[in-house]
Amino acid sequence: MILITGASAGIGRATANLLMEKGFCVYGTSRKVKGNIAPDASSDDKNNFLKENIIASDKKSGGFICMIPLDVTEEATIAMAVDLVISKEGRIDILVSNAGNGIAGSIEDVSTEEASMQFDINFFGSLRVIKEVLPHMRRQGNGLIIAMSSVAGVISIPYQAHYSASKFALEGLIEALRHEVASFGIKACLVEPGDTRTEFTGRRTIANAADENSPYYDRFTASLSRMEKDEQNGASPDVVARTVYNVIKRKNPPVRVAVGFQYKLFLFLKKILPSRLCAKVVGMLYS
Ligand SMILES: NC(=O)c1ccc[n+]([C@@H]2O[C@H](COP(=O)([O-])OP(=O)(O)OC[C@H]3O[C@@H](n4cnc5c(N)ncnc54)[C@H](OP(=O)(O)O)[C@@H]3O)[C@@H](O)[C@H]2O)c1
Repeated sequence: MILITGASAGIGRATANLLMEKGFCVYGTSRKVKGNIAPDASSDDKNNFLKENIIASDKKSGGFICMIPLDVTEEATIAMAVDLVISKEGRIDILVSNAGNGIAGSIEDVSTEEASMQFDINFFGSLRVIKEVLPHMRRQGNGLIIAMSSVAGVISIPYQAHYSASKFALEGLIEALRHEVASFGIKACLVEPGDTRTEFTGRRTIANAADENSPYYDRFTASLSRMEKDEQNGASPDVVARTVYNVIKRKNPPVRVAVGFQYKLFLFLKKILPSRLCAKVVGMLYS
């Protein structure tokens, strides 16, 4: 039983498809799925709702994908989604906390409201879903939480500082969570994709003040177009999905798994090279 947030596109959708093919019962979430089922609705109503929202099934493996409504910024929708899955299945074995988006702009240009929105989705959004799922995993005595971080959650990228910071915060959360939940039989880890070809690029929010009047405008636009090009020429989301599947298969997943050889090397070099040298490379690439 797997719950994947943000399964309507990109990495979440690719992961849902692969896990269905591998025979898992996948409950994916999206804000676009409509419907409202009260916690005290009958189990028939809940089951019918879920049945109507099965969007794919694999006869050979027995797996399926059922989509349910969830906005990571709205606690009530998270409670409803988890209640629906628990009512039907009685358990959640794996959570892939994947929903997220990005904001771009210089630190000076991104307003604190815009920065808060970024944290509300990428950090607090994951936190809300994890908190809702944990009591069920504790009761079961097992569970696996996989949080979708990013290489930018280890190396901070100019003009994506708030995105990077939200993923750094997620990394800190999961590192501590691992220790706290280990004695309940629950595992937690991070998957760190690099540039990946998804809808993320087109959906990126640009800070309101990052316009021609900004003193950062020329450097920002050059950096943004490099980011966009790298993402659109990046790995297929299927590659990230395979990494998630490999994590699921591991008895003891490590705290973090970077996706792809290039990024594994990148993060290894960050560990062993002097910080000044790493900063120089990032500066050359994005500033
Ligand atoms: N693409 C990359 O280069 C890259 C690299 C590293 C890490 N990542 C991370 O990978 C994860 C998935 O991104 P992606 O590249 O697959 O992007 P994507 O194609 O834009 O998909 C994002 C998914 O998140 C969902 N989502 C967005 N805001 C949400 C909200 N407030 N509540 C609930 N769901 C929300 C979307 O669902 P609905 O709009 O249907 O609700 C969609 O299914 C993100 O955490 C991202 O930070 C991406």
